[in-house]
Amino acid sequence: MSLYTLQGAVAVITLDHPPVQALSHALRARLLQALTAAQADAAVRAIVLTGDARAFSAGADVSEMGTPLQTAEPRLDQLLATLEGAAKPVVAALAGVALGGGLELALACHARVALEGARVGLPEIQIGLIPGGGGTQRLPRLVGLPTALEMMQSGQARTARSLADSGLFDRVVADDLVPAAATVALRQAEAGAPWPLARDRQPEAAAVRFLVDTARARLQPRQRLQSAHTALLDALAAVADPFEAGLARERALFLGLVASPQARALRYLFKAEREVVKLPAALQVPPRPVDRVAVIGAGTMGTGIAISALDAGLGVLLLEQAQEALAAGVQRIHAHYSSRVAAGKLTTARAGEALARLTATLDWAALAQVDLVVEAVFEDLAVKQAVFQRIDAHARPGAVLATNTSYLDIDGIAAATGRPADVLGLHFFSPAQVMKLLEVVQGQATAPEVLTTGMALGQHLGKLPVRCGNAFGFIGNRIYNAYRRQCEFILEDGAWPEEVDQALTGMGFAMGPFAVADLSGLDIAWRMRQAQATSRDPRERYVPILDGLCERGRLGRKTGAGYYVYTDGQAAPATDATVRDLIEQARAARGGTPQALAAETIRRRALLAMVNEAALLLAEGVATRASDIDVVLVQGYGFPRWEGGPVFWARQQDPVALADELATLVAAAGFGARQGDLRVLLV
Ligand code: NAI
Repeated sequence: MSLYTLQGAVAVITLDHPPVQALSHALRARLLQALTAAQADAAVRAIVLTGDARAFSAGADVSEMGTPLQTAEPRLDQLLATLEGAAKPVVAALAGVALGGGLELALACHARVALEGARVGLPEIQIGLIPGGGGTQRLPRLVGLPTALEMMQSGQARTARSLADSGLFDRVVADDLVPAAATVALRQAEAGAPWPLARDRQPEAAAVRFLVDTARARLQPRQRLQSAHTALLDALAAVADPFEAGLARERALFLGLVASPQARALRYLFKAEREVVKLPAALQVPPRPVDRVAVIGAGTMGTGIAISALDAGLGVLLLEQAQEALAAGVQRIHAHYSSRVAAGKLTTARAGEALARLTATLDWAALAQVDLVVEAVFEDLAVKQAVFQRIDAHARPGAVLATNTSYLDIDGIAAATGRPADVLGLHFFSPAQVMKLLEVVQGQATAPEVLTTGMALGQHLGKLPVRCGNAFGFIGNRIYNAYRRQCEFILEDGAWPEEVDQALTGMGFAMGPFAVADLSGLDIAWRMRQAQATSRDPRERYVPILDGLCERGRLGRKTGAGYYVYTDGQAAPATDATVRDLIEQARAARGGTPQALAAETIRRRALLAMVNEAALLLAEGVATRASDIDVVLVQGYGFPRWEGGPVFWARQQDPVALADELATLVAAAGFGARQGDLRVLLV
């Protein structure tokens, strides 16, 4: 096989490791060989490096990560040094994606030419790392520190079009990529050595320091908790130093991160999110085709689900019980697309095209036209059963019938139809057009192909569908309830709500449990508690604080007060006398001696409550993989991604101490509290 093709006096070296030209050891070796040969070839005046339409290179080869091949020679840094020192100019021609090591390869070339739609980025931060192939040193030298910082802090890829004037590219073209790159390369050859290199530019040290200090001061609290964010700024500060010193600094910081628990947690989730869609062999049956869906109920969830389906190119029928509610839902969907267009995220044509696929109706007979129905009406079993009876009367045979219920029994809903095998739960999260998590709930009668249709639809919508069994609250809400209940116990035992919230945001939760409760409204939980009042055993530990708040009209943010008092939407930093009185009454009724609780104690108790519920869910088969539980908590409940999720957290702890702590916690929860067997998840 030839190492390159000659196009006139230009050697075109093509990176060839489909599908995305991952920089495996074999590809690095071939590249080095081709570069060496092209430099020795008297017929070659200049060199172009390119990939294919899909990818220049997507970076490191994940399948070689952690194996000796990853660091076998030639390493990426050696390849880059060869490029920089080449006797003939080398120009990178980028189409498709150039990410991580792939972009770093291009940064070491003497020029870069890209197709407008090419996407480039340094996504290392997303797996708890910083670029380790010179990216932190070369990118700022080409595009300036602010743009480089933005790209590396977000880890998001950007189009070449949006970076056309950034200094990253010598040319951005609409087509004829390789000829354009060859022209640039030949021009450089004619101009003669030295060829331009990022490393030869030296930014002013004072300016670098100022920008890095500013960025450090601006780090968000959640970024400060992540070592990759601080390491990134340390590496950028080294741009003020001579290039080789900067590279050495980057390398040291990179190696320090690779083995860190945070990077391990993020790699674990990266893998867990790919596994989540895999089903056991017995369930791997082809899904039913879905082109048109109906959404019943045009409220908060129904409109979000409709938008998500429209965005994915599906036809959507929106069905309501009343004209006013239907019009309001349609109006919300239109407002969504208008705001996307106004923000420049969508063209008017694309928005119009999506809206053209939306039909709004009050006519149930229209259900006969769809392949799948998602019900999102009020959370009430009787209401949902009545709705499913009507669906059953109108939907065509073979249509998949889904409910977006948060807690209700899927089998109870399916029983309202004459076709329970076609029924499943599709539990979206709010806002449904944004949140990636989707719980796909299998009822007792759900047919395997109905389950796979739900999973396939989830993927088509760009979601992470997690299969779960039919149990109160499925995976996420069941664990969240156990966590929230433990946090209420913590109030009775001696901490104030703000101490609990701060302990948890202090480890990186997006919000604390009491701030979340105020945001979603306390009345939802209150209504559920009232519904369960008759079946609750009086011997169970029950914390009445939330009921007290609701009785006083404090339903959360929407009423201006819940656990916290809100002024202009801002929560007061501490809870007020009403809340403290209610808590003190609850403490007195319980009869214990309240004690101050350290933040670490609060955190461990809250996490352990989650871990215990995770163990129970696994034992009951509601969750099939321990890592699925972590995906659910991270994607749906604000659990800090860099901590990996409750199961990953538990696995980092001393198992004996953890089991002891759990036994104490379960004993304190009193009558009816169940203790899971931690061995099911500590494997
Ligand atoms: P919502 O109150 O905003 O919307 C419900 C809509 O259903 C209303 O527009 C109502 O007019 C309509 N509706 C009620 N009965 C109907 C009937 N018989 N036929 C047709 N339409 C009818 O409620 P939301 O928040 O959208 O919740 C809907 C479902 O989604 C509930 O089961 C809820 O538990 C679940 N859910 C809610 C989440 C949330 O964060 N709000 C998250 C995940 C699930």
